[in-house]
Amino acid sequence: MAKVKFYGNEAVPLEMHKVRIVQKLNLPPVERRLEAITEAGNNTFLLRNADVFMDMLTDSGVNAMSDRQQAAMLVADDSYAGSATYTRLESKLQEIFGMPFFLPAHQGRACENILAQVLVSPGSVVPMNYHFTTTKAHITLNGGVIEELVADAGLEVVSVNPFKGNMDLAKLRDVIGAHGADKIAFVRMEAGTNLIGGQPFSLQNLADIRKVCDGHGLLLVLDASLLADNLYFIKNREESCKALSIREITRRMADLCDIIYFSARKLGCARGGGICIRSQALYHRMRGLVPLYEGFLTYGGMSVREMEALTVGLDETMDEEVINQGPQFIGYMVDELQKRSIPVITPAGGLGCHVNAMEFVDHIPQSEYPSGALAAALYIAGGIRGMERGTLSEQREPDGSEVFANMELVRLAMPRRVFTLSQVKYAIDRLEWLYAHRRLIGGLTFVEEPEILRFFYGRLKPVSAWQHDLVERFRKDFGDSL
Ligand code: F0G
Repeated sequence: MAKVKFYGNEAVPLEMHKVRIVQKLNLPPVERRLEAITEAGNNTFLLRNADVFMDMLTDSGVNAMSDRQQAAMLVADDSYAGSATYTRLESKLQEIFGMPFFLPAHQGRACENILAQVLVSPGSVVPMNYHFTTTKAHITLNGGVIEELVADAGLEVVSVNPFKGNMDLAKLRDVIGAHGADKIAFVRMEAGTNLIGGQPFSLQNLADIRKVCDGHGLLLVLDASLLADNLYFIKNREESCKALSIREITRRMADLCDIIYFSARKLGCARGGGICIRSQALYHRMRGLVPLYEGFLTYGGMSVREMEALTVGLDETMDEEVINQGPQFIGYMVDELQKRSIPVITPAGGLGCHVNAMEFVDHIPQSEYPSGALAAALYIAGGIRGMERGTLSEQREPDGSEVFANMELVRLAMPRRVFTLSQVKYAIDRLEWLYAHRRLIGGLTFVEEPEILRFFYGRLKPVSAWQHDLVERFRKDFGDSL
């Protein structure tokens, strides 16, 4: 592990913090878990927290705050306009990213709404390393299309490539050539590329993309929601950056971009979001939408308490010892699963551990949502709530046909500083059991299917009685254990 070397053989991620507030958890018996997932329409988004033991749905808005963040929340300056809290946040962002203008928003997708409304029009094209669900939805809602240009290595599940989030420059040049630069609304790079397993891009790749953008007068937009993990990986995997501090790497990245937007539910361990902008003209074009959709310009839908926590959280993100916690726990879990031959995305990325459902349940066709089925099965097996990141998370084509996802993943997010190592070991154990009995897992089919972002609140049912068989097997193997 990064800083502390172990004398013995078992190196484990070492927490550089201590826990001072705890929350009691509930682990319902397996029979109740079957009932709960049935009530939730086999959609882990619809489970109630009271039925969940380990909530690995997301790292969004659920990271543990530091004592300094909580303390800052107590001195928030509550006012509609001109609050000192806002000024502190704005100054911190200017200090870190070096961009003169900032627009606050209530979360990441609100930033995407503003960016898409201002920059995207019918016929626009937005090249990006990879899409995120809400990003794509906002771009298509405004009449644009996306082009996913992640290098081919990014879609290889098992790999040693340290930067699977890199964009393929040749693909970028081809897309610009094919559509013409005037059709390109902006080029988007997503740090810690979410949907391909939290995979980072390199600073070199961003610099190369900047050059291509400069050649065609294109805007370069960074989605910095998962920046913390990406920074950690650049520092630890990119030879030319080893001697740089996290703060220096951040500034070098920011200097290459025209706009940086983020979900503060991830970046800065608070809740909110915002857009940092280099050009005054662009700032003026976007500004009018903030009071319309978010709130006045000095809060943008965020509570002052969250803004204070965010200001401190952003500062703490510049500390390698703080941001290494997520990647190190994830790295540990990925290594342990690999030792047990359980298919996971490698190398370990940020955000969480990504189980490869395409292989884990290779007997389930994509039309029966293998990742959704595996997520439901893992909840039954251990009260562990993961998130489907596969075909269910796609949108159907306008003619109603399914878009089969490139990858079928179950994402087990690792909220920062939330779980202990024994809880992570429990999750590994339940996955090991499930893998041993993977042939018992069957597919799912929709009962209620919303048209947009169906994975959030769609309801499904198992295609057979496989979930009952799984519970029976659990009882056989574990006796009266929870
Ligand atoms: N961009 C990325 C890369 C994200 O991961 C997210 C959110 C957003 C934008 C939207 O931000 O939620 O604040 O509106 N990801 C969450 C997740 C939902 O669970 O991965 P938001």
